[in-house]
Amino acid sequence: MTRSLPSAVTVRAAAKINLHLGVGGVRDDGFHPLTTVYQAVGLCDDVTAFPAAELEVELSATDWIDVGGIPLDEGNLAVRAARLLGDLHGRALTGRLVLEKSIPVAGGLAGGSADAAAALVALDRLHDLHTSDDDLLRLAADLGSDVPFALVGGTALGTGRGEVVEAVADVGTWWWVIVPSREGLSTPEVYRHFDRLRPDADPTPPDAEVLLGALRTGQPVSLARALHNDLQEPAIDLRPALGELIEQGEAEGALRGLVSGSGPTVVFLCESADHARDLAGAMMRSGHEVVLVANGAVAGSHVVPAHV
Ligand code: C5P
Repeated sequence: MTRSLPSAVTVRAAAKINLHLGVGGVRDDGFHPLTTVYQAVGLCDDVTAFPAAELEVELSATDWIDVGGIPLDEGNLAVRAARLLGDLHGRALTGRLVLEKSIPVAGGLAGGSADAAAALVALDRLHDLHTSDDDLLRLAADLGSDVPFALVGGTALGTGRGEVVEAVADVGTWWWVIVPSREGLSTPEVYRHFDRLRPDADPTPPDAEVLLGALRTGQPVSLARALHNDLQEPAIDLRPALGELIEQGEAEGALRGLVSGSGPTVVFLCESADHARDLAGAMMRSGHEVVLVANGAVAGSHVVPAHV
């Protein structure tokens, strides 16, 4: 008996924040060794794959996201994901990929990586390919350092250049206020600036033991104390307004503000959902146009009922 293929598959993938981002001195291949703790938070892109004769990409986005700079060709990680998955199965994969973006672009939240992970899963299901988890993780690592985490979600330790992921114990529900910036920051540029500021950085990145211990307490105050990002200093040096934003959020009552990954998005840890809503209100009243509330940890890339 032959099974009919689905008419469309929608896969949801979450934004990530780095609760700990320990960066070591640059490697010979240009990447930096990392010890990082990722958390997937409830701010998601949806990728829907429709049957089509060719491989095509279409974008739609929440009104405050500027999709103008997102390429629709091979420069788009979702297109590269389709090519790599096709190569694995020895065929050119077709499909119309509709990317519905709610994750800010070039924001340090791994939105492009989320789209790539979601495209892998959506095309796998659309074409009934039954790709193994190991193969999906391998393709994801080839696509980018953050893409394997976008597949697995939850809270995970990342090592290597960030692509080796392992789930960690996390007993808390953590509430975040997320303040994106209108203009993105280039990840390679922030890493290059880290190299300028820290030319003698130890090749072994700072470990995540304190952070992992805080996750096991479930206490927001403990987590707030343990948050750590080695890219925060270079990001603030390139964009001093981020330092002022962190100070402002903390003055408004956040337990702690932190640049997310390479920035420029800033995330604020709160005590509870109510605290996060209050802080978000205060930040909006003080003039920030886009202020989001999300909790973590949430699931990695997963199929949801189609709604496009
Ligand atoms: O892996 P990905 O393609 O997302 O990396 C984008 C850029 O970020 C790299 O080309 C590199 O400049 C920088 N990067 C790095 N070290 C890492 C991850 C990324 O230097 N561990």
